[in-house]
Amino acid sequence: MGFFFDLYPTMPEKKVIIAIDGYSACGKSTLAKDLARSLNIRYLDSGSLYRAITLFCIQHVIHPEDIKSVVAALPFIHLNLSLGENIKLTMNNEDITDEIRKTDVSRWVSEVSVISEVRNKVNEILRGLGKTNSLVMDGRDIGTVVFPNADLKFFVTADVNIRTLRRQKELEALGRQITLQHVKENLLHRDNLDSTRMDSPLSKAEDAIIIDNTNLNREEQLELALDWYNSSLNG
Ligand code: CDP
Repeated sequence: MGFFFDLYPTMPEKKVIIAIDGYSACGKSTLAKDLARSLNIRYLDSGSLYRAITLFCIQHVIHPEDIKSVVAALPFIHLNLSLGENIKLTMNNEDITDEIRKTDVSRWVSEVSVISEVRNKVNEILRGLGKTNSLVMDGRDIGTVVFPNADLKFFVTADVNIRTLRRQKELEALGRQITLQHVKENLLHRDNLDSTRMDSPLSKAEDAIIIDNTNLNREEQLELALDWYNSSLNG
């Protein structure tokens, strides 16, 4: 794993892990990045690793539902994450930061994420990073499985139509024109697979704080999360 240590000159004295879980495109990553910046710690997007493995399968014509072949490919996938304000993800030395956001990857990532061997590979990387670093990490099972002892856990939700609009805007910013209907179908498809899979389904950790940001803007959701941080960890 590579790091940009110089981006974060003053780390908190005590190591802090903040877990943010929730549905597709509910604003987890925006909140996680904003929190990381405010607290001067690193941000890690666990979904990007699942997306990378999915991209590898697509590139090598491995069907994501062909579990045996996906598992056989895992030793050939070398992932490297540079953490910081702008995360850079490389796979076998190739920068795939933007490519993992493509529609094909979004279409199949939840099928790949069902596979336990895939989850084990990703979790090993995530836990390794959490051993020595303060982190804000977002995903589906961070507070329940990856870091069950996280210092603070959030479960983020938002109305599906709002999530659809936000994701479409994000994709537009990347130069991709996708219909609202198509975006919504993808979110619902992934939410369904993510919540019903056998291994580490998306669910709220018992001790997670729910943030419904349907009617909150970016600043308001950050303020709310920081209030929780201050009262839970600094109070
Ligand atoms: O950005 P968005 O919320 O749409 O998705 P993402 O965070 O990039 O995650 C992509 C997919 O990876 C999810 O739909 C899940 O299938 C899977 N994932 C997971 O299974 N566990 C995680 N901790 C993170 C992502």
